[in-house]
Amino acid sequence: MKAYRASLLWFAPCNGEPIQALFEQDGLLVVAADAAGCQRVHAIGAWQALSGQYAHVAVEHLPGRIIAPGFVDLHVHFPQTNVIGSPAEGLLPWLENYTFPEEMRFHSADYSAQAATFFLDELLRNGVTTALAFATMHPQSVDALMAEAQKRQLRFISGMVLMDRHAPSGLTHDTEQSLIETEALIQKWHGKDRLGYAITPRFAPTSTEAQLRGAGELAAKYPDVWIQSHVAENKDEIAWARQLFPASRSYLSVYDDFGLMRKRSIYAHCIHFDDADRALMRSTGAAAAVSPTSNLFLGSGFFDYVGADRVGFQYGLASDVGGGTSFSPFHTMLAAYYVGREGHAKQGVSLSPQHLWWQHTAGAARALGLDGVEGQPAIGNLLPGCEADFVVLNPQATPLLARKTALANSLDELLFSMIVLGDDRLIERTVISQAYNSGLSGVSSP
Ligand code: GUN
Ligand code: ZN
Repeated sequence: MKAYRASLLWFAPCNGEPIQALFEQDGLLVVAADAAGCQRVHAIGAWQALSGQYAHVAVEHLPGRIIAPGFVDLHVHFPQTNVIGSPAEGLLPWLENYTFPEEMRFHSADYSAQAATFFLDELLRNGVTTALAFATMHPQSVDALMAEAQKRQLRFISGMVLMDRHAPSGLTHDTEQSLIETEALIQKWHGKDRLGYAITPRFAPTSTEAQLRGAGELAAKYPDVWIQSHVAENKDEIAWARQLFPASRSYLSVYDDFGLMRKRSIYAHCIHFDDADRALMRSTGAAAAVSPTSNLFLGSGFFDYVGADRVGFQYGLASDVGGGTSFSPFHTMLAAYYVGREGHAKQGVSLSPQHLWWQHTAGAARALGLDGVEGQPAIGNLLPGCEADFVVLNPQATPLLARKTALANSLDELLFSMIVLGDDRLIERTVISQAYNSGLSGVSSP
């Protein structure tokens, strides 16, 4: 066992009630290893209340610091680190001019390996402890990323991109081969240590019906793997999808028609939806990866939070690097606040800071089905039993942060200061629940 004395931020269990952040100014977090060697939260609460009971446990005292759950990035592209900040008229020219040429380079296992190392270093430096990540259409890109995530003992999910039409020839698969490779990668990586596999059709326009059907068959055969794709991001993309799949009610319905909507399926963007689409998300248990920096950068539109909450489907926050402009969850939460203003205009304020933070931690974990329900692992929170992936925040990291956070009169004011002013400098340390010394400064195990 080990304990940390610091300020603590976590979330009340979410049983349909409004999201509630919990905060202990002088708290104690106690972690203990389970039989498999995974450190889990054993107890959390006020130092006053717990210190007697855990007097025998070694305590690391972190005065002035805040311990909070590791962030969960619900949608990110590991091969697009170099694509960040590539301006284009919109999604489709951006894919063609910047993204596809860069993804071609992942044909090389060496290139994939060095990109994977940089990518995971960058996530951890920014306090992201779990991500659902696209690789490229090359199996070696998945192998490189999974091997690196396994070395760091991360809870991490990725998958090989499926494309068999409408992309450059170096990036399109033979349909049959793509499905054989996907199944081999599921067997190789899914459930290994803390890793999970996601069946990854890029988006409907770059797959034939045969490929989508095959992906749906694999999803049925492996009910606990994840599914990830893109939907309803951009008007030109939607028109294209409608033209290619005229029999489906909507772009989103294409995925449902091929058996690709269920719990553990995560669809990036979900901007241009009608209520029937929203109801389909809710009834299937699929979740949206809201990607506000990407949507603002590519001019795609604004996720409709009011519509999502009215109909009641799940969502969480995502960087969507490299359409997205930052690995920092603080930048993503701030962009989500701006986007929320759009939908909440008539009601005055936008999303609360507690809700924004939840969307990037416990909410994203719930969207992934990693909230401890039905025996699944729990991440994104610090309730007892959760895997102990967490960040140590230093609110004095910059002069302005120190000045502003010292003025906070409430939890909302404190969280808002960090969302608006924070970046990687606010993350003093990232702690991963299993024993591994990464050698990366600021990353450790409990
Ligand atoms: N739609 C299909 N592929 C992509 C991608 O790589 N990024 C984004 N933002 N949208 C997509
Ligand atoms: Zn994306």
